Formats: sequence, structure tokens, C-alpha cells
Amino acid sequence: MNSLFSTCYPLSFFETQKTSHDIKKAIPLLQETIQYHREKYYTDEPEITDAIFDEMYALLKKWETQFPETKTENSPTQSVAFLVQSDLKKKSHLVPMISLDNAYSKTDLEEWEQRWKKFSTKEVEYIVEPKFDGLGISCVFKNGIFSYALTRGDGSEGEDVSENAKTFLPNISIPHKEIFEIRGEVVMKKSDFENLNIRLQKEGKKLFSNPRNAAAGSLRQLDASITKERNLSVFFYETPLPQQQKDFQTYQNALSFFENHSIPHPPQYFICKNINEVFEKITFLQSIRESLDYDIDGAVIKINNFEQRNEIGSTNHHPRWAIAYKFPAKQVATKLIHVEWQVGRSGVLTPVAHLEPIEIDGVIIQRATLHNPSYIAEKDICINDTVLLERSGDVIPKIIMPIVAKRNGSEKKIIIPHECPVCHTPTISSESEVSVLCPSIICPAKMQGQLEHFASKKCMNIDGLGTMVAKMLVESQKIKHLADIFLLEKNDLLKLDGFQEKSAEKLYQAIQESKKNPLWRWIHAMGISGVGEKTAKALAENFSETSMLSKLSAEELMQIDDIGEKTAKEISEYFSIAANNDIWKYIETTESKNNSSSDKKLSHHAFVFTGTFQNFSREQAQELAEKSGAKILSAVSKNTTAVVCGENAGSKKIKAQSLNIPIWSEQEFLDNISATPLFVETSEKTISHL
Ligand code: IVH
Repeated sequence: MNSLFSTCYPLSFFETQKTSHDIKKAIPLLQETIQYHREKYYTDEPEITDAIFDEMYALLKKWETQFPETKTENSPTQSVAFLVQSDLKKKSHLVPMISLDNAYSKTDLEEWEQRWKKFSTKEVEYIVEPKFDGLGISCVFKNGIFSYALTRGDGSEGEDVSENAKTFLPNISIPHKEIFEIRGEVVMKKSDFENLNIRLQKEGKKLFSNPRNAAAGSLRQLDASITKERNLSVFFYETPLPQQQKDFQTYQNALSFFENHSIPHPPQYFICKNINEVFEKITFLQSIRESLDYDIDGAVIKINNFEQRNEIGSTNHHPRWAIAYKFPAKQVATKLIHVEWQVGRSGVLTPVAHLEPIEIDGVIIQRATLHNPSYIAEKDICINDTVLLERSGDVIPKIIMPIVAKRNGSEKKIIIPHECPVCHTPTISSESEVSVLCPSIICPAKMQGQLEHFASKKCMNIDGLGTMVAKMLVESQKIKHLADIFLLEKNDLLKLDGFQEKSAEKLYQAIQESKKNPLWRWIHAMGISGVGEKTAKALAENFSETSMLSKLSAEELMQIDDIGEKTAKEISEYFSIAANNDIWKYIETTESKNNSSSDKKLSHHAFVFTGTFQNFSREQAQELAEKSGAKILSAVSKNTTAVVCGENAGSKKIKAQSLNIPIWSEQEFLDNISATPLFVETSEKTISHL
């Protein structure tokens, strides 16, 4: 099939074919599309990600199983790989070079285990190692000396790249082996790839888009001197010849042999007893992926013992004794259209990239953080650049680097703002030049951020006061200072867009209710740099009155567990600003109203909660106790009035017993707070606000 005449459709086109009639019509188109992308892949110009390719391939396999008459000889599912047209000589492999089946989840691995278990019931050991993102190579040694090297080609016949391989193979000599074959992966290290592209750019030549393409382009050179200057690397992971396998008995022994004979091999490999252990190691490899100097796109899981491998066997395309676990595709390329500078609650300006919308793992991404000016400078990211985008587990997408090869001259430098984009106050740079700040204490953007934080769940927990409402309150100048929130009247809320009688009343009540919050929530809500929930609790445990807290020096604050020098300095600096004390004056008045009230049932108590509770989570229990006036302590000490123990309570219960501190069961705790008006028990046995 000639790619010039190939039909090429997007995956979404195939996914929307639902009826048998439409699917049968789409199958030849999908076969051609896959063939087209295979060719693009092997000629170093991929247009789609591996993950999309794999999805297309899996869909074709599913459809061909559903309609077997469509599975023609030419289908890409029936040929191991696309045979590249090249001037390199072809040579047959001693043993076919088949590829691996793919897994994408733990369930896939468990199913794979069930599949091979049909062929052998013996216990096995697995070996887990990186799946290198490069090109397969076979190297044959005769009488201990390197003889020739082949690419995978179509699996039965490869291209002779012997001269090229000599440029990166170390000096390997194999003792007393008539014929010896090792197979592995040729890669270009990330550092070598970067150097190569820098050089190509200087020479005004076309750059490579990633290390794998660079490795492919460098290996398949007719002139081996070009391969030599490209600095390729190789990792060997297979000994395919039956006699060698008999000698080694296990893959682990083969790897030790590689080690002893200076044969490059996977730097990390793990022996595992079951799929749980396998999955743990895969997760580990995934976690170190970015720190490696070569690209890996997954892990390969292999049965260690060669005799067992033979028992289990292979299909025409894949061994049953091994599988490739592909890491989720999380990197895509898209265009950076412009950069917006967002002002956070502390005044730091964060550059946010606006991108041409792109999908990663089914999520459309249009924005990504560029962190700070030094990140932009370090990565040399420009407006109009095509950038590589990554969505990691934490869901916030990040830009990894510009694809320099895709530059066309329209790129523009990202300008660091000299003034705050919201209040236009001249910006200042931090000492380390890492960040740029709006220094104004009346900047509305900072106020909005502070207000959102103040009302958030882990702070004052004011339901209904999120980003949009905070924005409207600041823009309408109803709130210029955090303390203004308690001056809001229902009528003020009714004037905001989208508010009606019921919603205004609800938010007004939530604000009033929040005044009853325990001290630690107020402290956390202030947004003092370095003071998170834990530090706020430590401060509240040590100071029952805010007036004391505001008068302490950094040295005195450092006496408290969990508070280091930096945070202590931040706290005392915070209180040295007159405007910041306004809200504390307000707290003192509400505090005296709330905390002095002896009507709170448990105000004389200081509890430690431990173990698992039947009716609520530990956090809910603590909240419940706080609402009844009790203090919550994290550790058992002589100040603890009772330790409330759920199931499986451990060391804290023992410590309480040794200090003769009363131990309460969950029921005793519930009996003691049962008259509190703030909570009810719902039918689902959880505790919720009235
Ligand atoms: S073992 C019978 N181990 O991935 C096949 N392959 O998608 C034995 N690959 O064709 C292959 N790293 O080119 C194996 N550690 C590794 C690998 C690896 C990368 C490549 C190899 C293979 C392809 C399958």
C-alpha cells in the first residue's frame, strides 16, 4: 500500500460507527489509516500518539473478530510490521522477531495471567523491567565475535545495520559460543537528543521531534559515520536461540551473563512472585520515568524460566509468556496561543498558558501553568510555540518543553509584566528572581483569592461562597477587607447576579454560622504564609486567646512544635501589619461571645480521637466535639481529658491507660454530646449540619 494514496481518518470517526453496516464499511478505511500511521512511525514522522495508534489497532482487532470476513491478508493485524522501503540490505532473522501484546491496567495483567495459566499450572517468577522507547535490534555473534546486526523489519526479515551497530556496541566477546544472538532496543538518550537538535539547528537542518525518531533516523543510515556522531545507546533484553536458553535456564541468569560480559542491559529489573508485586514495580518505574535519561513508555513483564516460557508458547504475533504494560499516554503537543498572568492571594503573579484545545486521556485541556518567569526562561518557551504538554496524576497539566523543531519564525518572547494586570501597581521581583509579585495590599485580585481561601471547606467552610461569588463581592466593592464579610446583609447578596431570596438567605446564614467556628479554622482562614491546617491547630491548641497570638515574637512562636523559623517569621510579620489585625479584633469579640459561653456541653474537655468509628469519620467526630466546645489534641498527654476510642485503637489507647486518662467508647462520646443542637444523625448514620 502506498501512503500517498492512503486514506487517513481520525479515531473519532471510527468510534462513531455503530451499526454493523457502517462498521463493515469503515473497516477497510481503518486498515488503511493504521497502515498510513505505521509508515509515518517508521519513517520518523508520526502524526498521532502511540496511545491513539494503539486504540485504533485495538478497535480494528475487535471489529475483525466481529466480522471475520473483513480480516484480509493485507490487514495491518496480519503483518507484524510495515516493511520500510530502504536501500539497506535485507537478511532473515534466525528466529522470527515478534512483538509484545499490550496491557493498560492491572486487570489486563490479571487476565493475561489467566490466559497463560491455561498452558502451565506451575508457579512462576516474573521479571519486570522498563519498556524502552526505541527500535528493536538483533545482534548475532559467531565464534564469540560480532557478526551482524538487523532491525526488526517485518519480523522475519530485517535491514542489515551491522556497520551502524558497530558505532555504539561496546567491545563484546562471547566465550566458546558458536552462534549467539542478543536482542534489545536502540535508544537515543535524552541528553544526546538535546545536543543533536542543538547541532542540527545550528546547521540549519530539520530537527527530530523526539528521541525515538532521532534513534530511528540515526540507525537506518547508509553512511555509518553519521550514526557514529549521533551517539546511540542500546539495552539488550533477550537471548532468543533455544540452545542459549537451555544453557541459561532463566532470564535472570542471562542478565547476569550480560552483566559479566559488558553487554548493556536494563539498569533496573525486579523479580516478582505475583501480579500484585508486578504492579508495585510498574508503579515504581512509572514514578522514576521522568528522572531517567532515556525514554521508557511502559514496563515489560516476562516469565523468568525459559522452560516454562516454552511450555506456555506464543501465538503468531506475540509470546504468551510476556506482556508490555503501556504507561497511560499523558503527553501531547499543542500550540501556546497566549499567556495570562493570574494574581494569587499572596500577590504572586502566575503565568497561565492558553492553549489550542487538546485532549489528554479524554480530558480537553485549554490551560496549563507555566509556574514562574524562571521556568519560562529555563525552558525557553515562547508564544506560538508548539509545546509538549503533560497531564500527571495530580490532574494539573504542565508544559514540559517547546518543540523547537516546529518553530516557524512566528514565535514571540513571553514578556514579564512590569505592572499588576489587575490593579496596575508596579510589580516587584522576589529576591531569587523566581517570582514576580504585586505588592499592593488593596489589589482586588489578591482580595478575591484571600476571600475564596477564607470561605473554603478546610477554613471557615462557608457553603455557597466560591470563586464566582468572591469575584462579584470584590468587584462590587462590598468586600475590601476580609472582616467586611461579617458586615454583609442579605440585601447586599440579593444585588449580586443570580441571587434570589432563598439563595441570599442561605449564604447569609452560612456566614453567620461560620462565626461559631473553632479558633484553628479562623487562624487557617487568614491565609498566613506557611500556616496550613496542622500549624493552625497547633497554634490554637497553645493559645486560647488571639490577643496573645498577635503579640508573640518569632522566637516565642518557635517554641511550639511544628513551627519552624520561616513560619514563625511569617506569623509575626503578618501581625505587624495594622490592617491584618482588624479581623483579629473581630474574632476577639466573637470569641468572647462564643467561647465564654458555658452553655457548650463539652467546653471543659480536651479529646484525642483514635481508631475507626462506626457512625462517622474521625474528622467528623472532631468537628462534632469542637462544635460542642471541646478542644482536639493530636497526642495523648496529661492535658487530655478523655481518649475517644473506635475499633482497632492502638498506641494512643495504651498511653491513655498508662496515664490513667479516661477512655470513652464511641457510644459514650455520642451520649455526652447528644443534646448539642448543631448536628443530627441522619438515616445513613452520618453526622451532618442541620
Ligand atoms: S522483550 C518476543 N523487553 O517493545 C518479544 N521488548 O512492543 C520480546 N521493547 O518488539 C521483546 N523494551 O522492540 C522486550 N524490555 C523490553 C523491551 C522491549 C522495549 C520493545 C521491543 C518489542 C516491542 C514490543
